[in-house]
This record gives sequence, C-alpha cells and structure tokens, in this order.
Amino acid sequence: MKNTKISDCSLIKLEEFCDNKGKLQVIENIKDINGNLINFPRCYFLSNFKKNHKRGIHAHKKLYQILLIFNGQCIINIFDGKNSKNINLKQGSGLIIVPGIWRELSNFSDNALIVVMASELYDKNDYIFRKLDFIKYKSE
Ligand code: TYD
Repeated sequence: MKNTKISDCSLIKLEEFCDNKGKLQVIENIKDINGNLINFPRCYFLSNFKKNHKRGIHAHKKLYQILLIFNGQCIINIFDGKNSKNINLKQGSGLIIVPGIWRELSNFSDNALIVVMASELYDKNDYIFRKLDFIKYKSE
C-alpha cells in the first residue's frame, strides 16, 4: 500500500483481566484502514536476539501485522518514506503496523520474545527488502 503513513500505525493496550488465578490479556477486533475486521492466519515468534543486530529491516506491500512483546522491551522504528518514529514496545501493548511501512527492530532487552500476528500467509513477494526500493515505491 503506497499511501499509508506512520500515523496509520497504532500502539494499542491489550485488554487485561487479573484475578487470584493470574493474568489474562486479550487482543481482538482489529480493523484495517477501511474499517474492515482483519483476520490473522499466521503467527510467528522472534527470539535469540544478537547484540547490535537489528531485525525486520523491510516493508510489506499488503501485510498487516501486530507486534507484541513478552519479556522486556525493544525499540521499533517505523518509516513511511517521509516521516519516521521510534516506538518503545513493552509488555501489555501491541503495535499495529499497516502495509507500506518500513520497520526496524532494535535494542532488545535480554530474553525478549516478540510475537508477530500476520494478516497473510508467508509470501516472499510481499516484501520490499531494500530501503531505496521502498522509498521509490512510496513516491510512485
Ligand atoms: P526474516 O524475515 O529475515 O526475519 P527477521 O527480519 O525478523 O530477521 O526471516 C528469517 C527467515 O524465516 C527467512 O528465511 C524467511 C523465513 N520465514 C518463513 O519461512 N516464514 C515466515 O512466516 C517468516 C516471517 C519468515
């Protein structure tokens, strides 16, 4: 999606239920930029982060994602071809990244575990891997 902006991405709070049995957190009813409910048929996990190595470093053309972190925190930089923003992702929040946004994940705390919910099955053709290609794609 070429015309999305970083302001289309949002950090949402998970709904939380705490009682004497423990804690339960929920994420549901996530909508795309046209207000339609998104299904998330794929989920994957990022872990074993190496010091000074970023993850992500790409954009997607069609894919919506929700990034959640369990254990610790990390910084997610999002960029729409013009503006960029650093988001400190912490437990209890989820970052919704719309299509057409460049993302770089860094500064992982020890033992961080990131869960990514994805709106499409894995498709290498949906990726833009080079930042210059991304900038060109967004300016077309
Ligand atoms: P990659 O996108 O490079 O991960 P990151 O940007 O977080 O470092 O993916 C690493 C490998 O995993 C790559 O060979 C593609 C593969 N992969 C899948 O097979 N299925 C998936 O759903 C994802 C996200 C990656």
